[in-house]
Amino acid sequence: MIILGIDTSCDDTCVAILNDRKEILSNVVSSQVEIHGLFGGVVPEIASRKHAELIDTIYRNALNEAKVDSKDIDLICVTAGPGLIGSVLSGLCFAKGLSLSLGKPFVAVNHVEAHAMSIFLERDVDFPYVALVVSGGHTTILMMESCSVYRVIGRTRDDAAGEAFDKIAKYLGIGYPGGRIVEDLSKRGDREYVRFPRPMIDEDNYDFSFSGLKTAFLTHAKKHGVTDQTMPDLLASVQEAICDVLSFKTLKAARDFRAKRIAVGGGVAANGRLREVFSERGEKEGFDVMFSSPGLCADNGAMIAVTGYYGFRARGGASDLNIKGFSRMALR
Ligand code: KG4
Ligand code: ZN
Repeated sequence: MIILGIDTSCDDTCVAILNDRKEILSNVVSSQVEIHGLFGGVVPEIASRKHAELIDTIYRNALNEAKVDSKDIDLICVTAGPGLIGSVLSGLCFAKGLSLSLGKPFVAVNHVEAHAMSIFLERDVDFPYVALVVSGGHTTILMMESCSVYRVIGRTRDDAAGEAFDKIAKYLGIGYPGGRIVEDLSKRGDREYVRFPRPMIDEDNYDFSFSGLKTAFLTHAKKHGVTDQTMPDLLASVQEAICDVLSFKTLKAARDFRAKRIAVGGGVAANGRLREVFSERGEKEGFDVMFSSPGLCADNGAMIAVTGYYGFRARGGASDLNIKGFSRMALR
């Protein structure tokens, strides 16, 4: 079986081809980072226009790389949300058109669920497990009960963790997107240099708040200034606060919900310090902590394909072609 996965939820145009042994035959990601970097963040109108311009070419590239013909495709999986609505619709409408023209089933996929399921590209996982999805748009804890059955048990009340990295980097003028740059500079820094707040860490819930932490950083930076010497220390300190809260709340969720396994996905999951903190603390408590390979943490079509394929099998059918795109994740 040949499975197509499409994601255009934010600023990357992603198309992948997978087979039913979960081998990735192609996974093409066309990044718009250079364009949005000029503005220090994603400009929704530009993102959706670029998707509309590129989707057909990226689809052809994915077919060529996989050495697959369009008529070989058996299942068409696509992100229906959450994301920037214009961007989501570019991929969703393209996939619906393909489904009609090829006469092949169409599966609408939730982008956040796909980050939580991306680990299945690399290994099989027994349900239930707790998933932390941590990216530029989301910081969400999901209880993954069985295939296609999950509940949101925690989320950020304001900024996502990746957004905090990006805004801090933007303030310091060190580049976009900020997460990777902050991580690289932090390697030379002292994590104990400033004890930034760990928002909501003492509350008996699984929610996050990163806006206040970002403000605490900016306030400190304005008051004391940032020099080439102190920048790595300040960034290492704020990265430590983010990793601390993310791991603390996720481990609490796993403990409270009696899950033995934890999967972490999304762009921020590529962060080496986050991986280290999670592994150390999780393993100490006996959890199986699973991270996607760094290359599969960020948005990609393969995670959409694998999630759609598992959902199709579990539900025993395709999605209704009338399904609409959605910008926000529905509460379950
Ligand atoms: O999953 P993703 O590619 O797109 C969204 O769905 O948002 O995540 C992008 C986010 C950005 O905020 C970026 O700064 C962050 O992931 N990111 C990182 C790292 N690499 C990317 N954050 C921390 N450390 C990294 N190494
Ligand atoms: Zn994402």
